[in-house]
Formats: sequence, structure tokens, C-alpha cells
Amino acid sequence: PDAERIADLLSRMTLEEKVGQMMQLDARGGDLEDLIVNKHVGSILHTSPADLPRAVKMVNEQTRLGIPLVIGDDCIHGYSFWPGATIFPSQLGMAVSWDPAKIEAAGRATAEEVSCTGVHWTFSPVLCIARDTRWGRVDETFGEDPTLIGELASAIVRGYQGGAKAGEPLPKDAILACAKHFAGYSETQGGRDASEADLSHRKLESWFLPPFERVAKEGCGTFMLGYESIDGVPVTFNKWLLTDKLRGAWKYNGTLITDWDNVGRSVWEQKVKPDYVHAAADAVKAGNDLVMTTPQFYEGAIEAVRTGLLDESLIDEAVSRILALKFRLGLFEDPRLPDEARIKAIIGSEKHQRINLELAREAVALLRNDGGLPFTTGAQGGSAKRIAVAGPLADDAQNQLGDWTGNSGQVSWMPDGQPREMITTVLDGLRALAGDDCEVTYARGANVVDLVTDPAGELYPDGQPRPKIGVSAAVDQTLINEAVANAREADLIVAVVGDVVQLVGETCSTATLELLGGQNALLDALAAVSRETGKPMVTVLISSKPQVLPASIVGENGVFAKRVSDPSTGTGSILWAANPGMKGGQAIAEIILGLTNPSGRIPVTFPRHAGQLPVYYNQVRGQHGDRYADLTQDPAFAFGEGLGYTTFEYGEPRIVGGATGEDGAFAVGDTVHAEIDLTNTGDRAGTEVVQAYIGDIVTSYSWTDRELKAFQRVDLEPGETKTVAFDIPVADCTIVDPDANRIVEPGEFELLIGHSSRREDLKRTTFTVA
Ligand code: IFM
Repeated sequence: PDAERIADLLSRMTLEEKVGQMMQLDARGGDLEDLIVNKHVGSILHTSPADLPRAVKMVNEQTRLGIPLVIGDDCIHGYSFWPGATIFPSQLGMAVSWDPAKIEAAGRATAEEVSCTGVHWTFSPVLCIARDTRWGRVDETFGEDPTLIGELASAIVRGYQGGAKAGEPLPKDAILACAKHFAGYSETQGGRDASEADLSHRKLESWFLPPFERVAKEGCGTFMLGYESIDGVPVTFNKWLLTDKLRGAWKYNGTLITDWDNVGRSVWEQKVKPDYVHAAADAVKAGNDLVMTTPQFYEGAIEAVRTGLLDESLIDEAVSRILALKFRLGLFEDPRLPDEARIKAIIGSEKHQRINLELAREAVALLRNDGGLPFTTGAQGGSAKRIAVAGPLADDAQNQLGDWTGNSGQVSWMPDGQPREMITTVLDGLRALAGDDCEVTYARGANVVDLVTDPAGELYPDGQPRPKIGVSAAVDQTLINEAVANAREADLIVAVVGDVVQLVGETCSTATLELLGGQNALLDALAAVSRETGKPMVTVLISSKPQVLPASIVGENGVFAKRVSDPSTGTGSILWAANPGMKGGQAIAEIILGLTNPSGRIPVTFPRHAGQLPVYYNQVRGQHGDRYADLTQDPAFAFGEGLGYTTFEYGEPRIVGGATGEDGAFAVGDTVHAEIDLTNTGDRAGTEVVQAYIGDIVTSYSWTDRELKAFQRVDLEPGETKTVAFDIPVADCTIVDPDANRIVEPGEFELLIGHSSRREDLKRTTFTVA
């Protein structure tokens, strides 16, 4: 019946109405009535909730066909622009959990909160692969591995869309998901956002496309383009990607949207199109449906059809897909206006705060423990009386939440940020949990950045205020002295350092990964106290991406030192929390005090030095020169690493079935059934993330040594042993040939199961594919 209604509507729409339907415009920047009544827009984004009832009334009363608007917004880790909404860990923080179930629950909670505000569609999740982590949007990714990204992205898509499969109607408390940025946007030049991407079809097929294919199968309602060009063609005009691959090979029936003014930028910025008529025509021909924030698309596309540059049937195809999305949401029957009662009951509810805390507890990775953690105060049965907290991130609500929230650079229209009382910082968490007889002191110790006016000016070309930019702050010895004085009086030193939203996000990549301002000097000074006095120290890193910690903390790190690293020269323990959300400070405090056993594993490699970038575990095998003379090849922390407060012992992996070929060989249609025994050998309950990798031992074309294929979080009581089982289809044990075909090559394969991507952490067995 939807197909009939779509055909009927199309037959009654004028060209102007169809082209308007293809436009998504920023309602804040223009006259809403003009957009709806004169331009016939099909969608608006970044809308003020107060405008929504007005907009729906205009559609119903002042437009000929009353086609409902679809409303989109960047609800990136919670509905971050809604005061009082639940803000979860950043997507990268979520990925530290390796827990699809908890991530699906966060997606569900977000959808419940967003759907009652009248917004129908979130521009999330990001499926980009984080390789050069100087890129400003690493915090929005699920890390560096295509399998992990695909699993976690599918989970959040299920949560957002209430489990609706491809084409199925969305429940009222669900929102459309958007897989972005299609595809290869993160493959930057030197980490610089939106630069030309050096990508072949083979490279796309090998790493960048699989997570998108995975969520397309999951029924993800929409896809958004990236900003980059590949081989000289901006993604907006890449017919191979948008039509042949997405719509053809994958049979994707969802709706495609450009990124912000992609079509316009091709004229005024990239200068690959002479005018908006050609830009509009070529964008439609490549396969785009909705065009985000390019007002000139309206006249451009109409002119292109009138002059014969563009066939109207292509416009019809795009409009059909946009109408299908509106039917999928049931908007023709119910425009899903803001619902005050649900807003009150659901947004920031206790249930959602609980889901948030449960995820935050798993979103923290213990990267190093010198025995100082967990730390016991009187409340935990110990006798420690004082904790000295230092560092600019210890009590900084905004930078704990990270990008796309509160008053970060992206949302200058919400200047007061999220309610402070909803956020637990590390200082709040330690004060609440350390117990009455343990004093928690605080000294800021360092500043990160000074805010200065952007050299590009105070306003954007459209008159919107441009946020201030951050430049590294000077070392302030007085601040350091205060922190050192506190540390000398304490039983535990907690330094909380990291990065700030002014240096994170779209258009905001960094050339280095060093801690800015006075933070390294602060850490050096506190580490000196710890080493001199023997007081335990923990460094908590709250950062949008992996950062390079100073040698005083992480140890001699093999930089400019004949490639020798010596972690024993570092100090204390290290926790990384990404941007851990509203409850992050509580989760971190619980981990420091041993109330929660850390179980996070890093989804992205930590380099020792920005000069190592890009560094990731599944690099293609090179030859003997593929290394640096002045820097060890080893990363600071490898993909999949993370410690807990107990120890685990792995048995030997066994392949227990699935082969149908002669002599136990596998055929391409078989599934490798593997098992491994895992024992908790410590005296605390704990969680291990068991990781299964496959290595194709000899390949016809250069390929990686091993790739993650499956993983499981396993909870074990002290002394308990569990058998962990994996089913890995042989059809997934592929390489990609020079023509970008995925193939399984007969021969011997390794199955590697263990604690992290490091070879020394993996137990090995082999199998043969005939
Ligand atoms: O959704 C975002 C996208 O990720 C980057 N450019 C702007 C879009 C809309 O805000």
C-alpha cells in the first residue's frame, strides 16, 4: 500500500515540489514559512522544538499536498542538545566496553528520549575507521577495527530503530539511524578533516565498506556521505559507491543524505563544478536522495531538468525513497509532535541514568597497574585518610561529556550546557565514595588551553557566531606547586588530564597527540612525588582520542632512544575513559576504589608518538624497511588491551567441528566451531573480553597478519572455568584481490584466541580450507 501511495503522490507533485522534497535545510538559518511554503522542503535539521508544532501546522494548512517533514538532528551520544537529556559516553567510549547489549540499551534509551521531542532521525552512528588519530572526529567512531565497528554499530542501530528491520515501520518510541560517513572519510591526509582520501576500490572493500554493509543488512534507515574526495571525485558524485555498490550490490533501499552543503561546496570550495545547475544534476545522477543545507539546489535542480541536463525520472526515484522513509515513520498518520508528558517522564529518567552508569563502568580501560589499584580507603576496609586529586579534567563537566554536547564548539546555541547536577565528575565521584573519614583535596594544577578569537573572524559567513579556538596554555608553576603540596600530604595521588572540546570535532584535527598546556609539567611533578615518597599515583586520561603521555607516566617510550622502551621507568597506574558521559566520574571513582572491576578494552591503538601514525593492529604485512630508525614499532598500548583486578588463564584453542571436506579440511560454506577454556585465576570476580582473530598464513596479495572475527565478554567468579565457543564462517576468512573482489583462498589459516591483538596475548591453532 505504501508503494501505491508513493506512486499516487509522485503523480500529483510538481517538479518544484519534488525538488523541494529532496532538500534538508537548517531551520535556524532561515524563514521557516519560506522554506516550507515556497521551497517545499522535505526535511529540516537542528530545529528548535518550539518551531515543530508551527512547522507541522504550516505543512498541513499552507502546502498543497501536506507531505510531512522529517526532522533530523545530531543525537550523537544521547540527545546532547536537549537540556537534561541523558548523555552517554562518546561513541569511542562506548566501544571501550566491547558490549553490544549495553550499547543497544544506550541506543534504545536515546531513541525514547529523542522521539518524544518531535525529532525523528539521529545522524548516528559513525562507522568511520580511526587510523590516523590526529583526526578531530575519532571520538565519534567505534575505533579501528571493521568487525568491532560493524557489531557495535548494528547494536546501536537496533536500539535507535527499536529493532525494526529493513523497510519495516518504526515503533513510536524509535528514531531513524544514519550510518555515516559513507565511505572512507576518516582516511585523511595527516589526520586533517575532509582532506582528499587516498583510497582505491580494493582498500575501500578491504576495510571501509564492511561495517556499512553490515548495518545496511540490519535495516539502518539512512546513510550519510562523507566530505572527502577519492581519486579526484568528491563522494557526492561517486556513482560507483552510491549507486553501483550501495543500491546495486547491497540492494540497499534506505535513504541517502549528503553531508553539510556537500553539493554547494563542490562549487564554491572544491571548485569541481562550474555552477549549482551542474552540481545538482551530477549529485542526483550519482544517487543522492536528500541534499543537506544547499539552498541553491532548489533552483539548480529545476534548471537542470528544464535544460535537459537531468532526467526527471532520477528525481522521481530519489523522492520515492524519501517518501518511503516518511511512510516508514508513519508521519502521514502522525507527525510525531513533541509530547510533553513523555518528555517529563522519559528524558533523563532514573532508568536511563542507570543504563548510562552501567555502560560507563565498562567504558573505562585500565592500561597499566603498578599494584596501586584498587585503592582502599576506610570505606573499603583500608585505612587511607586522604586522596589528592589534581588536574584540569577532574572537575570539568563539559570536557567530560566531550564533543556534540552542552556548550562545546558544535552547539553554541546551548550556552549553559547540561545541568551540572546531572553530571558526576571524578572529583564528585571520589568525594561521594571515599567515605567520611577520607578527605579528598583538589588542586587544578594546570590549564589546558587559552581561548582566543579564531583568526578567521568572530562570525561565520552566515552571521552565526564562530566559537573561540583553544591555544595551548602556559605552564603555571603556582598551580603545580599547590597540587604538589596536596600530593605530599595524601595517601593516593589522582591526576585527571586530557583534551578539551575546542580541539575536537569536525574541522578540528590536531597535529600532535601531546597533552596541552601545563599538563605534562603537572604529571612530571606529581610522578616525582610518587617516586620519591612511594605514594601510589593514578593518571586518569579523559580524552576524545588516544593521547601521548609523558615518559614520567608511561615510561621511556622508545622515542629517539634507539627504539628501546622501558615501562618500568613510568609511574603509577593509568586509566583511559575517553569521554565517559554524565556518570563517567562515578564509574572512574568506583574503579579507583575497587567497587567496580575494570573491564574496558581499547578499540583503537595508542601510539607512542604522533610520528607513528597511522598505527593500527591490522596493517598490511610490509618488508624489512617498514619501521622507524628512531622509534620502536610497538605502540604504547595495542588494540584490544585492557586490564582488570583479577587474572585469567587461557587453555589451548580447539577446533571441534564444522569441517565437511576430506581430511578435516573446511569448505567455503562451512563454519569453524572453536572452543577455548578460560579460568579466573585471581581472587576477585572479573570480566574478560575474549578475542578471536583469523590469520591467512600465505596470501596471493599483500594482506594483514590477523583480523578480529569475533569477541565475547565473559564473566567469571574466582577459580571458575568456562568454555568459550566461537562460530566463524569460512566465508568470512577472506582477503581482497586487486580487482576488489572478496575471496577465500584455499590453504592454511591460523585461529588466534586470547586477551588482545598482541601476538603474545593470543593462543594459536590452525585449520585448512580446501
Ligand atoms: O551529522 C553531521 C555530520 O556528521 C557532519 N556535518 C554536519 C552534519 C549535521 O550536523
